[in-house]
Amino acid sequence: MKTITTIQELRTTINNWKQKGHSIAFVPTMGNLHQGHLELVKAAKEKADKVVVSIFVNPTQFGENEDFDAYPRTEQQDLALLKKYQADILFLPAVDEIYHPEAKTIVTVKEISDLHCGASRQGHFSGVATVVCKFFNMVQPDFAFFGEKDFQQLTIIRLMVRDLNIPVQIESVAIVRESDGLAMSSRNGYLTNEQRKIAPKLYQSLQTARDAVIGHQASLEEIRQQQRQALTDAGFEVDYFSICRSGDLMAAKESDKELVILAAAKLGKPRLIDNIAFRIS
Ligand code: PAJ
Repeated sequence: MKTITTIQELRTTINNWKQKGHSIAFVPTMGNLHQGHLELVKAAKEKADKVVVSIFVNPTQFGENEDFDAYPRTEQQDLALLKKYQADILFLPAVDEIYHPEAKTIVTVKEISDLHCGASRQGHFSGVATVVCKFFNMVQPDFAFFGEKDFQQLTIIRLMVRDLNIPVQIESVAIVRESDGLAMSSRNGYLTNEQRKIAPKLYQSLQTARDAVIGHQASLEEIRQQQRQALTDAGFEVDYFSICRSGDLMAAKESDKELVILAAAKLGKPRLIDNIAFRIS
């Protein structure tokens, strides 16, 4: 595996591969890699001849009071894991390689970026869409891999690719969980032992809500309120618990069939997110 830090070297290497007819898959990350990230690399490896992984803690997607400086940076450990999973390039740029100091352009996917995580994290999804769009221009991959863990992010990237005619195929990978159901996340490391025991309740609430929706046990609003309350009672500070249409993430109506339940809740310092997508027959 080759570690590259400049856009110029990245382009030269990828152009050489393309001239030889190799297909390219791209996996953007912010590092501190865990099995969730590595499943994306594995899927990318199966799909394309060459796999490019980026590690870039993107400042524009962090709010002023968020954890940009404290975000875990574990480069040596990440490097070893990427070698093991046979990535071909690790792209590891500095912030000033990615952002022009007087940059004037941002990419915003309207409306959906203000819902759910976007409501409490102003500008977050513009930061994500902008950096991912820039990476797509640098790497020009045939395929790009994103986790369903960040369901809203995945939906926004798909809309951006559609609206800007970016020639890349977006592939999604199922959520990778710990054995007790907690969705793997770099932020789980911030949980105290006590909080770690409570954390799986987030997924349990999503499952309970899904079963209640499928079984028509109550109205969608009642189910939503019940599970929101159950999480509050367990010690979470719930940001949102929303039963949505999986296509556009708008609030689901009783007649909708393709659904996703999205939740975000703070447990002490860390904010956990999770979701469950399903179909009603
Ligand atoms: P990061 O949080 O590092 O996640 C990188 C990718 O790994 C995302 O597509 C995310 O959905 C996926 N992922 C994380 N945990 C997962 C899990 N438990 N199961 C499956 N996939 C998982 O998401 C970002 O970085 C950034 O916003 C980025 C897209 C890199 C733009 O800066």
